[in-house]
Amino acid sequence: MALRFEILGRFNRARAAQLTLPHFVCQTPLFMPVGTQGTIKGLATNQLEEIGCQIILGNTYHLALRPTSELIDELGGLHQFMNWPRALLTDSGGFQMVSLLHLADITEKGVTFQSPVDGKPMLLTPEESIQIQNRIGADIIMALDDVVKTTITGPRIEEAMYRTLRWIDRCIAAHERPHEQNLFGIVQGGLDPVLRDICVRGLVDRNLPGYAIGGLTGGESKDSFWRVVAQCTAALPEDKPRYVMGVGYPLDIVVCSALGADMYDCVYPTRTARFGTALVPEGVLKLKHNAMADDTRPIDPTCACMVCRTYSRAYIHCLVTKDAMGSQLLSYHNLYYMMKRSTHINNRGKVSRFPKGDVPEWVCNAM
Ligand code: GUN
Ligand code: ZN
Repeated sequence: MALRFEILGRFNRARAAQLTLPHFVCQTPLFMPVGTQGTIKGLATNQLEEIGCQIILGNTYHLALRPTSELIDELGGLHQFMNWPRALLTDSGGFQMVSLLHLADITEKGVTFQSPVDGKPMLLTPEESIQIQNRIGADIIMALDDVVKTTITGPRIEEAMYRTLRWIDRCIAAHERPHEQNLFGIVQGGLDPVLRDICVRGLVDRNLPGYAIGGLTGGESKDSFWRVVAQCTAALPEDKPRYVMGVGYPLDIVVCSALGADMYDCVYPTRTARFGTALVPEGVLKLKHNAMADDTRPIDPTCACMVCRTYSRAYIHCLVTKDAMGSQLLSYHNLYYMMKRSTHINNRGKVSRFPKGDVPEWVCNAM
């Protein structure tokens, strides 16, 4: 194991902790911005440090295609390649193939897909995914899992869950750097509590350094998504980090943290920035709107970020859609907002106020 997880404070099921990784000591709950080709679109690594980003996510699938894991390894690993001194996490690649390429096919061997480079069929096995992630060198690496949409029903959900359990053993056996990189297992099982329970127990038996809850945000209702998180966090070990994959919106992060989750990643803050939307305490602010054209206020008057201290809504309105700087400034503010939101929960050791949105009573009672 190459991490230490110390709980600093608790409020019912929520916890604030210190997660010590090989490259950085992180405070949880934390949000990880998503990079694709070894970059968070539009932001330099010194800006990511400036906004308090502790760990970023890289995608094995994208990096393996370009610049390739062999080249990253040759150039000293991804930390050195992108000049990022803090922590990194890589996802295993299978999920990206299934979500990006409609031609992906999953068999017991692995995920077969058509190469976007030359159209040839390629196979990503659990062993290969780990080998690639060992070369990239992130602090946390993810097991290859069999992911199905939560909106699918029937035996395919069960098959994917048992396959994910079989693949975890192949991942563990292939992992060559357990003292430098932490392999996390991923809980699958759709919306079925029985399958989720079998998967959690199977993974916990393997005594991994941390656990992720996967297979969510595929179109299920918020209520069913939060119920799966509540069930898994209750069954996962207290003394290991819990990562909810592909989440999320500010409200989801607050709710999942109240339910005892610690880590999140999502493209939402940077993607929505590229469409001209800013995250603010009241919800969202659309900078393209005509009403912004002569608004001299900052995006969020209560925000202390560089963008809100420097530029007006009118100026960003003018840039957005015309110049890349518009989406860069919005990405900067949105990620700052996400960083503040997760450390806000952390410093108080509790969740005191929900952002805009509906929270069912059972969630409030579970806190
Ligand atoms: N990203 C979002 N959800 C998932 C998941 O279920 N598995 C993996 N590997 N990545 C994800
Ligand atoms: Zn701001």
